[in-house]
Amino acid sequence: MTTEPTADPQADPPADPPADLRAAPKTDTRPYSPGLEGVIAGESALGMVDGEHGRLTYRGYPIEELVRAGTYAQVAELLWTGEWPQSAHLPCAALPDPIVDVLRALPANALPMDALRTAVSAWGALNRLTWPPTVDQARALTAFAPSALAAFARLRAGNAPIAPNHELELAAGFLYQLNGVEPDEASTRALDAYFITGAEHGFNASTFTARVITSTQSDIASAVAGAIGAMKGPLHGGAPSEVVNQLHQIGSVERAEKWLDAALDRGERLMGFGHRVYRAYDPRAAALRQVADGMAGMADWLKLAVAVEDMALRKLKARHPDRPLFTNVEYYAAAVLQGVGLPPDLFPATFALSRHAGWTAHVLEQAATNRLIRPDVRYVGPAERSLPGVSAAR
Ligand code: ACO
Repeated sequence: MTTEPTADPQADPPADPPADLRAAPKTDTRPYSPGLEGVIAGESALGMVDGEHGRLTYRGYPIEELVRAGTYAQVAELLWTGEWPQSAHLPCAALPDPIVDVLRALPANALPMDALRTAVSAWGALNRLTWPPTVDQARALTAFAPSALAAFARLRAGNAPIAPNHELELAAGFLYQLNGVEPDEASTRALDAYFITGAEHGFNASTFTARVITSTQSDIASAVAGAIGAMKGPLHGGAPSEVVNQLHQIGSVERAEKWLDAALDRGERLMGFGHRVYRAYDPRAAALRQVADGMAGMADWLKLAVAVEDMALRKLKARHPDRPLFTNVEYYAAAVLQGVGLPPDLFPATFALSRHAGWTAHVLEQAATNRLIRPDVRYVGPAERSLPGVSAAR
């Protein structure tokens, strides 16, 4: 740790540095956008997010078509290679023993995101990954992550991890390794659809983090471990578990109006509404709403979600007539994740699993056209000066 030297009150005041050595915070007039908002920080052929019109495409294909007609395995191949395979198979990978040992060493109350990030880091240490990253590395890491998260979830409950079933695709294989039973068709389809909608979303903070790490010619596991760290923050990792809490608190359609008014009067945000980029209905929410609609056993919960959504949209429009506020992906992600029986504390890490295809595709894209990402910073600290009691070197 470094500390600011404290001033010696007895010392002569330091001589002014020569004019050409003085920092000039006020004269650096190069454009600066806090949070890089509105700054084009790279080029990508992967995801196109059109917030104004509520459109999202992966390599040009609209998300609703990908959800309707594709599988996560196909979408992952599309992102990695640009090809749309007629069929693709991406089962969960078996966990090497040292990874299970690492997960076992974690405290049972560790956050699932921390466990996943640790597992990805350990996977990188075991695999001695070479530069440049390859599609095979991307496939292997994406197939590894659900097994690691499922193993952690079992270990923390005192249960032994379950070996993957190679017949099952990634989403179904994740549920199988969590619960020890093959999921039904509706849950399989719903979680696969959720994985598709989560796979890619442009230059969000975690993806950008993965690209920055890749730009130093570091390896794919370091990039994804960093991305998980970025996604762990509440400003990025999303709020589906908070949507579940919100609906539990509301409890019934009859109570919704009063609850929503009270929350908005207190200045609270309604979870699952609003988005930094979308000024229209989030296309991922629309795709997931359809999927949730078809899920067995969801009827009551979904009815409540739909009724609350309609009411919330009306209230948000009345209170913010100039600010378009619509449903975001988290709202119906909550319905799907709740519907397939995941515990809410696994929601953020499950979102991270879905994003592996996109993160690793960005790693490949960054590596293919690499230039070290190294922006400038506007210096606003003190002008150059001498340490207290030390005369300026001339
Ligand atoms: N409920 C009520 N009011 C809202 C909401 C909301 N969900 N979202 C925005 N507003 C209001 C704000 O209070 C603000 O009003 P004001 O101008 O009177 O102060 C106005 O709309 C603009 O809000 P901003 O903070 O500028 O909007 P921003 O684009 O920064 O926020 C965000 C986006 C963080 C997603 C916000 O809409 C929010 O907090 N939503 C709820 C949490 C949520 O659903 N998160 C998941 C996002 S999707 C994802 O992460 C994948």
